[in-house]
Amino acid sequence: MCGIIGIASKKGALRKPLGEVIREALKRLEYRGYDSVGFAVVNELGVLFIRKSKGKIDDVQAKLAFNEFDGVSGVGHTRWATHGPPSDVNAHPHTDCSGRVAVAHNGIIENYASIREWLAGRGHRFVSETDTEVIPHLIEEFKRGGAGPYEAFKAAVARLKGAFAIVAVDADAPGYVFFARNTSPLVLGFGEGANFVASDIPAFLPYTNRVMVLRDWEVGYLTPDEVVVEELMPGEDGVEANRVSLRVRVIEWTPQMAMKGGYPHYMIKEIHEQPQAIAATLAGLPDQVGAVAEALKHADKVVLIGAGTSYHASFLGALALTNIAGLLAVPVIASEARWYLRGLREGDVVIAVSQSGETIDTLLAVREARKRGALTIAVSNVVDSAIPRESDMSIYTRAGPEIGVAATKTFTAQVVTLAYLAARAGNDARVIEALKELPDLAEAVIVESEPLARALAKVMAEKQSAFYLGRGPAYPVAMEGALKLKEVSYLHAEAYPAGESKHGPIALVEEGFPVVFTALSREDGGALVSNVEEMAARGAWRIAVAPRTLEEVLGRADVRFPMPPTSPWAAAALYVIPHQLLAYYTAVFRGYDPDKPRNLAKTVTVV
Ligand code: AGP
Repeated sequence: MCGIIGIASKKGALRKPLGEVIREALKRLEYRGYDSVGFAVVNELGVLFIRKSKGKIDDVQAKLAFNEFDGVSGVGHTRWATHGPPSDVNAHPHTDCSGRVAVAHNGIIENYASIREWLAGRGHRFVSETDTEVIPHLIEEFKRGGAGPYEAFKAAVARLKGAFAIVAVDADAPGYVFFARNTSPLVLGFGEGANFVASDIPAFLPYTNRVMVLRDWEVGYLTPDEVVVEELMPGEDGVEANRVSLRVRVIEWTPQMAMKGGYPHYMIKEIHEQPQAIAATLAGLPDQVGAVAEALKHADKVVLIGAGTSYHASFLGALALTNIAGLLAVPVIASEARWYLRGLREGDVVIAVSQSGETIDTLLAVREARKRGALTIAVSNVVDSAIPRESDMSIYTRAGPEIGVAATKTFTAQVVTLAYLAARAGNDARVIEALKELPDLAEAVIVESEPLARALAKVMAEKQSAFYLGRGPAYPVAMEGALKLKEVSYLHAEAYPAGESKHGPIALVEEGFPVVFTALSREDGGALVSNVEEMAARGAWRIAVAPRTLEEVLGRADVRFPMPPTSPWAAAALYVIPHQLLAYYTAVFRGYDPDKPRNLAKTVTVV
């Protein structure tokens, strides 16, 4: 997920240099990505300036000198790397050979390799490792064939496959910004003496609240006085485009609300982003997991290491590798790893799970594992972060930056990644098919669960403690649910394997004591029935998250979340959603800020 902005402005209309306006817009988009930043400005004489660098905006703004560049059209980009590590040369915008076309992009060009090969065969020279760079060279290729800037832009877009939001400027068209959208978000802003296009409304909200959300395959251009939108009909024989009437609406968001897409907190926004995060992660896995799955097939022992939520994902990954791929895989808490790593040898595999890729306990475990000759594999959400850098192999989730301290979309992306990896190692196509259904199922679960979770939270907010119980792969989901509740609402919660509850914990249960049950399938849920009955006999307030077909569990609960039945390895990512929502709303009803829970940091980089 990256942040992009395009602006066409009459000279002086924005009362500050265009470069500075772009910088401010990118600052408001920084929640979408911040490992590198860049901008391009075209002045009224048709001179294109481009400045870009690895690093956060605040750290490189002096070097880039945004406010020294003025012009009549410009684009900007703040990056969350997916193809190619963060570096000056991989930062956007990217240009063609002539340096007259500059493009910023958010998304994934799936057919970039074949386009790059075709263009290289026609003499184009590439300097970056990104998929994006093929776009300006494609535009240049069509301009060489006689097309004007906009026609060349449309012809280039028509050749692309994948998810993209693109903004481009051309020194041969001062005052024009070209744009195109397919899947990745892009929105227009209609100002006075200036018009805008961006990944999200916050980018230009100080200048206008008149917006138009673009739809898939809508392309067009903006000048200071004009906005043209067309629907592109890509086809082998050239390009057809039909004019689209402008769908302008006025939004009443404050800039602060707009940063959260209209949501009150990043945590609830990121819970709602999970369908997209899962879809983007799945799209990036086929290219990444082949070699890793092959290496796993020959592994002697497999140890998965993580902290907090990433430990819960590691736990699920260990069960998936054991039950799908027939490998004996065990999860280990990162800060406890040192007492297990002594058993590692050449031929063993360690999978280090960390969304930030910077958790020091996990990083130290990777270093120790490598010293002992184990193959180390990182699963992370941040390209080129410390743990992937120091591992032998890496697999990246594509959840986009997670701003809320509580991990939500990065957890489901990790679970999907590890289940996919296990399915590939175990040649289980059924699991992969089940994972592919998750984005739609997650959308439905969010819609169906949110009202009940909000109502349930009003009661939970009055409680002091809760148990979360599950069996098999439902147990790490229960652990994740308990951690979410603790982390943001400060309500004490403990997860146990359900069969363990009668070995002590049940002594705490009395009338009204909340017990949250999770079952992912009949296999783990069937044995849960007796636990639900034991708790009922002691007056527990029973909440159940289970497949809607598991009536023997749901029917014995006071509050039930009937979930779509699916493979347990897909359900693990799906059935956590009611727990996330319950934790979020309990925190809100208790009057806390779920985005910034007390005593916690988003990344723990000290032991
Ligand atoms: C989870 O909600 C917490 N933010 C925390 O437990 C987190 O999962 C843990 O610190 C690990 O972080 P990582 O995934 O970046 O390594």
